[in-house]
Amino acid sequence: MVRRCVWETLACLSTALVILKCCSVAADEVTCSGIVPMVYRNDKISITDFGGVGDGRTLNTKAFNEAIYRIKHLKRRGGTLLYIPPGVYLTESFNLTSRMTLYLANGAVIKATQNTANWPLVAPLPSYGRGRERPGGRYLSFIHGEGVHDVIITGENGTIDGQGGIWWNMWRQRTLQYTRPNLIEFKDSRNIIISNVIFKNSPFWNIHPVYCSNVVIRHVTILAPSDSPNTDGIDPDSSSHVCIEDSYISTGDDLVAVKSGWDEYGIAYGRPSHDITIRRVSGSCPFAGIAVGSETSGGVYNVFAEHITLNHMGVGIHLKTNIGRGGIIRNITVSNVYMVNARKGIKIAGDVGDHPDENYNRNALPVIKHVRITNVWGKKVQQAGLIMGLKNSPFTDICLSNINLHGPTGPRNVPWKCSDVSGGAIQVIPSPCFELTRSNRKCFTHF
Ligand SMILES: *[C@@H]1O[C@H](CO)[C@@H](O)[C@H](O)[C@H]1NC(C)=O
Ligand SMILES: *[C@@H]1O[C@H](CO)[C@@H](O)[C@H](O)[C@H]1NC(C)=O
Ligand SMILES: *[C@@H]1O[C@H](CO)[C@@H](O)[C@H](O)[C@H]1NC(C)=O
Repeated sequence: MVRRCVWETLACLSTALVILKCCSVAADEVTCSGIVPMVYRNDKISITDFGGVGDGRTLNTKAFNEAIYRIKHLKRRGGTLLYIPPGVYLTESFNLTSRMTLYLANGAVIKATQNTANWPLVAPLPSYGRGRERPGGRYLSFIHGEGVHDVIITGENGTIDGQGGIWWNMWRQRTLQYTRPNLIEFKDSRNIIISNVIFKNSPFWNIHPVYCSNVVIRHVTILAPSDSPNTDGIDPDSSSHVCIEDSYISTGDDLVAVKSGWDEYGIAYGRPSHDITIRRVSGSCPFAGIAVGSETSGGVYNVFAEHITLNHMGVGIHLKTNIGRGGIIRNITVSNVYMVNARKGIKIAGDVGDHPDENYNRNALPVIKHVRITNVWGKKVQQAGLIMGLKNSPFTDICLSNINLHGPTGPRNVPWKCSDVSGGAIQVIPSPCFELTRSNRKCFTHF
């Protein structure tokens, strides 16, 4: 809180005009509460009641499956809490059920087996048409919730460890047969809370809510080495009312990336991501801090990100899509971002990411409009920004205000680069391109 106020004050100082406004935002502690009702579960069981052994060697798949079977079929009023005591519980992937709390004690670790040969396969997501990295099905997520509701994963900062190294090596050696498993996925689910847990070494994306609504992720720590491939932190995908806050993420890909399906499959499935809030998130990674895309074929709207602190980044704020994606990205607001050491501060581009196959529609042009980026302060940023719209689908109503991005050796850095974009800019240093500075007053009516 205090730290945040310090950097915010720095950001504010760059423009006396907004000092009162942006410093008052910091004082008022908004949270995700209300999006998912918090429940207390009276019925409690422990993994050890089902033969669980936390010695780091015993395989506990049967214990997890039996405990969760019991929760599913005994249906205690108010649901059941499954307690994981201190210890290292090795297991294969398992499925969660509705109305359960998975509670990891201080010192509890749920660790994924390294036996990739027996890893279950599931069908590809309809909005992707195939696995994200390999054709065909995909490996089931380590912890999976499908068609469930009222699930809480929490505790005293215990760890869910994907032991992803073996998968990263298969990717590097090009020996992967199917798409790697996520660490946690909720599919077609609602009322999910994930809090006070450490996620470590995911084989692929860390937390993937897909076709979900009402998901809260707060007070989590997500860690994977900076060279671990595709270990995105949190990827809300074709999901709505997702709120992410007070978390630290350091991974090998994007920290948070809002998605909604891939090219012709995502267009046909037509399920947008919307009403996504991201606040008080900090971290570092080689790709994007806050991202929308690149798979956005179902559309993405009403994204609000604020109080983001980034250290060592590829791109601070990245909106990315491609020809063939279709989809409308609109009403995206990012504010109060502090970044140090970034290749690019802000990037909005229509030429990012690959295609599922050759059947994508070259006429399916994405649309990006109504983007507000405000109060951004950066140090050691090599290039302030790049906004490159598509010739036949220019980005419109892109508004930048109170942005100050210093270069690696002082106030100068590589200038902005833009094309096929309209909108406006006020108090942006270095001065952005002509397309934005010739200014559209409409932009700033609600600042
Ligand atoms: C877990 O869920 C997946 C996806 O619904 C399913 O294919 C698999 O059979 C389930 N596994 C178990 C052990 O129930
Ligand atoms: C767990 O970690 C979070 C995030 O770092 C922190 O806010 C919280 O106080 C910790 N909780 C416990 C019980 O240690
Ligand atoms: C834009 O998104 C914000 C949430 O970030 C929401 O409160 C607002 O109503 C949206 N505006 C429109 C015009 O949909």
